[in-house]
Amino acid sequence: MSLSVPRRTAAVAVLALAGLLGAAAPATAAAPSAAAVGPLAAPDIPVANVKAHLTQFQSIASANGGNRAHGRPGYRASLDYAKAKLDAAGYTTTVQQFSSNGATGYNLVADWPGGDPDDVLMAGAHLDSVSSGPGINDNGSGSAGVLETALAVSRAQLEPTKHLRFAWWGAEELGLVGSRHYVNTMPSAERSKISGYLNFDMIGSPNPGYFVYDDDPVLEATLKDYFAGIGVPTEIETEGDGRSDHANFKNAGIPVGGLFTGAGRYKSSAQAAKWGGTAGQAFDRCYHRSCDTTSNIDDTALDRNSDAIAHAVWTLGAEPTTPPDGDVYENTADVSIPDYGAAVTSSVTVTGRAGNAPSALRVGVDIKHTWRGDLVIDLVAPDGSAYRLKNASGGDSADNVIETYTVNASDETANGTWQLRVQDVARWDTGYVDSFRLTF
Ligand code: TRP
Ligand code: ZN
Ligand code: CA
Repeated sequence: MSLSVPRRTAAVAVLALAGLLGAAAPATAAAPSAAAVGPLAAPDIPVANVKAHLTQFQSIASANGGNRAHGRPGYRASLDYAKAKLDAAGYTTTVQQFSSNGATGYNLVADWPGGDPDDVLMAGAHLDSVSSGPGINDNGSGSAGVLETALAVSRAQLEPTKHLRFAWWGAEELGLVGSRHYVNTMPSAERSKISGYLNFDMIGSPNPGYFVYDDDPVLEATLKDYFAGIGVPTEIETEGDGRSDHANFKNAGIPVGGLFTGAGRYKSSAQAAKWGGTAGQAFDRCYHRSCDTTSNIDDTALDRNSDAIAHAVWTLGAEPTTPPDGDVYENTADVSIPDYGAAVTSSVTVTGRAGNAPSALRVGVDIKHTWRGDLVIDLVAPDGSAYRLKNASGGDSADNVIETYTVNASDETANGTWQLRVQDVARWDTGYVDSFRLTF
């Protein structure tokens, strides 16, 4: 009996497997992705522009009691400054409100139109300072680096494969509050579309180190590659894992990465030997203090880290997106295959689809058998045309055929009954069709 059940399914593993199969004929390889032609290189981010944002954050703090803290006017003014730049650059911006410690907090989220809506690359920074200072390194620096990268995306009119989303978080200094609100109030269907989150909290420390978060291997390698390319050694970030907004994304199962130039911890002599600066002194002696002003920034560190953000956004944003889900028609009823006998079939019925079948129709075959070399397997289209998936080969003594074949079925009408036809053409070993699946 036929169980033709259309359902949505992730096709990642299936396609990866199909790419390994060369024997099926007629079959086509998966279509090459746009990234095969090579992503455009990221532009150099002008550090003068990044510093101009820091000057604005400093002025905002100075005009608002010396800080840009959650619940204080300097926070909202910082957000309005960034939002105006992003709106003018063509971003779709959203201000998300939350409440913390008796005050209203705000996240700023900026979406760059285009890219795959189901494959979202995010980069973010906390925009609030502590109340004791203007927070120019912590975290005007990350906020400005992410902002200038977003503006560079607009200047380039970048058309990445992925959808790009930039975010500035409120109330990080109260315990990662804004980003937690964002992640935890987001519908899980939206959350699962975020394929990576990059965090930038303190990237211009005055006695800098070059630290890369040791988390998702692809994000980590992409950031490290930038520094390797400019000959700057990096270390793994260890000054408090989970002490910034990426922790909320990581807790939700989203791959995370990021950069950091150091806070209150002291630079070792080995670190000073490779990076310069002063051993036995904090990476940031003004961490969480009123002296965290525009004088509390190392321009070289700010420059390199801003360029690294752009490198990561350009590189990761251009990577092929995960293949789209498909509609699956599956028959899981077992069909026994007689030894050295007549062909048997398992079928699925496709209804309600317009036009022809895809040029990369995925055919999932799960046959349990004690000598798969005995088996000849075809896909039979509704009109009877057959596509050979596998020939017999007496010497192939392995068990089972558990494969996903890719067939160019674009000459076939999609609707109708499709069959998997299996014949055992040699004596002794036997088996059965466990399941047969088509993914449109
Ligand atoms: N997030 C901390 C703050 O804003 C700074 C910090 C300490 C940090 N250790 C870290 C940031 C490690 C990123 C990674 O006060
Ligand atoms: Zn911080
Ligand atoms: Ca047999």
